[in-house]
Amino acid sequence: MTSRFLAALFTTVVAFTGTTAASRPQGDAARGAQIYERCIACHALKRNRTGPKHCGIFGRRAGGVAGFDYSDAMAASGTVWDSESLDRFLEAPMDAVPGTSMGYDGVKVPQDRADLIAYLQSATADSPLCR
Ligand code: HEC
Repeated sequence: MTSRFLAALFTTVVAFTGTTAASRPQGDAARGAQIYERCIACHALKRNRTGPKHCGIFGRRAGGVAGFDYSDAMAASGTVWDSESLDRFLEAPMDAVPGTSMGYDGVKVPQDRADLIAYLQSATADSPLCR
């Protein structure tokens, strides 16, 4: 009886987790490169500008680029950047990290965010764009 209950619970948890992951669309990095045009007013991949550089961002702590003057809010956010935390932040930066100095309203269309994140993933890891 108990084990059947646990099995049912486990199935529910797996189904729920699956749904969450599936609710984020697949990203197209080539299209994401075009979405990134919205960011280059303030950001560059390889160097700090108004915003911090993006090279190496996956797995990095928010506020983690040495020498960049972050807001206290970003520095204290405790976020580590991955596709999920980027999706949350980029949808509504000022809601996700209240007090952030990133004065940008966000990328509202889920597909646009998925494409942008796919681009960031391919461009900021070990790619020629970041060497
Ligand atoms: C108006 C300027 C501006 C625009 C446009 C902008 N950003 Fe930013 N961004 C900033 C600033 C400034 C910070 C530092 C925020 C802080 O310290 O609170 C930042 C921080 C970030 C961070 C956190 C980086 C870290 O090292 O922790 C990410 C990720 C980010 N921006 C991504 C983007 C993306 C992707 C876009 C385009 C969709 C974008 N930003 C558009 C200015 C901007």
